[in-house]
Amino acid sequence: MLRRLSPIQPDSFEFTPANLDWARAQMTKFPEGRQQSAIIPILWRAHEQEGWLSRPALEYCADLLGMPYIRVLEVATFYFMFKLAPVGSVANIQICGTTTCMICGAEDLIRVCREKIAPTPLTLSSDGKFSWEEVECLGACANAPMAQIGKDYYEDLTAERLAALIDEMAAGQVPQPGPQNGRFSSEAMGGPTALTDLVGTGPAHNASVTLALELGDTLKRIDGTEAPILTPWRRSPEKNPDDGEDTGPDDVPADAQNDDPGEILKARPPRALDAPRDGAGDDLTRIKGLDATAQELLNGLGVHHFDQIAHWDAAEVAWVDGHLEGYVGRVTQDEWVRQAREMLEAREGTSN
Ligand code: FES
Repeated sequence: MLRRLSPIQPDSFEFTPANLDWARAQMTKFPEGRQQSAIIPILWRAHEQEGWLSRPALEYCADLLGMPYIRVLEVATFYFMFKLAPVGSVANIQICGTTTCMICGAEDLIRVCREKIAPTPLTLSSDGKFSWEEVECLGACANAPMAQIGKDYYEDLTAERLAALIDEMAAGQVPQPGPQNGRFSSEAMGGPTALTDLVGTGPAHNASVTLALELGDTLKRIDGTEAPILTPWRRSPEKNPDDGEDTGPDDVPADAQNDDPGEILKARPPRALDAPRDGAGDDLTRIKGLDATAQELLNGLGVHHFDQIAHWDAAEVAWVDGHLEGYVGRVTQDEWVRQAREMLEAREGTSN
């Protein structure tokens, strides 16, 4: 496929101040004289800021990196992830049309896009809010048919659900990503057939949905002002949940309750202790998937005991899943909360 620059071009491009700082920081990752190696992340940041790469954006990135313009153009035209023409201001909807999705109804989804957005791919809708295209397998075949919209996957789609998603996004909403038919992840359509005793004991959403809800940038252009994620993080202890009060799941601060299922979950750091009780914390490494490094990070957050982890609510799980460097998604994946509860139950059983 020929990939050429759009005949429609803006007059200029420049990074927002925060994105420029971010780009310069990327350049420092490489040895002196090798700053051009940062070309892909810097082009991608320009793409995240604007939604596509214009000629002024390519020239700007070339100047920033001291590269010939033609070499930046080579990179931008080689990788299909870079859009070279304006896409919908709200979203460019990418429908997977590969075998599994095709068998499960991708053609119905494409028909919806043709009717609601534009008859041809990569064409702006009349209001400029949407464009669409067919893409190859996005690796979510077990939840076919699916689409990538913005940064996230919307899975187990039907024509009706996709039409509703487009309407919701046009109205300024960001529907919850992930399976759209009530599935947790990719378990059997009729419900789990193994480990059924664990049903209902885990988090509300799978790890990728939890992270998507926490980040909240499914449809957002990135201006660089958001707090960076996945950085080492330490907090000042604010509250000692063991000061004689119940710290159970029902004891979530009112402003952290998430009663409305349609409300976007707001991640919140876990409640902290000033120091381990009685001068010694639990051996958290007894939780499978939580090793000594993770324990050190948790201790730095003021988490020292099984009962603290056992009482994490969804907002705390989402925060730790997204922020514990090197352990992203592991709270949910390895079910730390369930394991911690079992540790407590075993301890109570021993003491009785
Ligand atoms: S075939 Fe569609 S995600 Fe793999």
